[in-house]
Amino acid sequence: MLKSNNFAKLQPMYPLLIQQFVDDYNLNEGIAVDIGVGPGFLGLEMAKITNMKIVFIDISQEALDQAKETFGSLDLDNEAEFINADVQALPFEDNYANFIMSRGSIWFWKEPEKGLTEIHRILKPGGVAVVGGGLGRYLPETMRARLQETLKKGQIERKEKRPSLEEFKAMVQKSGLSNYRIMTDGDTSSGKWVEIRK
Ligand SMILES: C[S@@+](CC[C@H](N)C(=O)[O-])C[C@H]1O[C@@H](n2cnc3c(N)ncnc32)[C@H](O)[C@@H]1O
Repeated sequence: MLKSNNFAKLQPMYPLLIQQFVDDYNLNEGIAVDIGVGPGFLGLEMAKITNMKIVFIDISQEALDQAKETFGSLDLDNEAEFINADVQALPFEDNYANFIMSRGSIWFWKEPEKGLTEIHRILKPGGVAVVGGGLGRYLPETMRARLQETLKKGQIERKEKRPSLEEFKAMVQKSGLSNYRIMTDGDTSSGKWVEIRK
């Protein structure tokens, strides 16, 4: 069992964030890659409401095993792969994925700029990637406040630091990507995401 990273408390957020991605990018077919899956909730929610093949990527075998077990228990008929790999060297050819998502993982990458260029490399022309962290736009405000508290407490306990929005922008700029935009969770002050297009 993965060390608790508030994954259980964050349960209400995952289906809403996936619904947001599906609505924003009109997702239903093709290949979706989830990078830094942890227990796999984003990829699992994507499988529930689309026909996409889901590729779960993590450097932790324990995380992948847990994601695979839950995927099996849901009796989903999407194609799925569970791959132990580092975002900085993704084992795919260029132009592989229609959609790539990565939530709450970039803060742990040794060279985030390299991870972002790898993501761009494996993205199909016309595809989109969303990388960063946050709770999404669809979460009700009351729940957002509760979950933000939970996240903050966890980060303090684990002595983890997150970059400011300005630091995040600088990190993305350093990657040399050209077709991207920085987003927050809508009008809220939470969330830091980069949307990458190819
Ligand atoms: C906080 S968890 C986020 C889990 C999930 N995306 C979520 O939102 O619930 C971060 C995950 O990123 C993974 N990770 C860290 N560095 C990575 C890297 N370089 N490449 C791939 N995965 C990585 C960790 O093993 C961990 O499972």
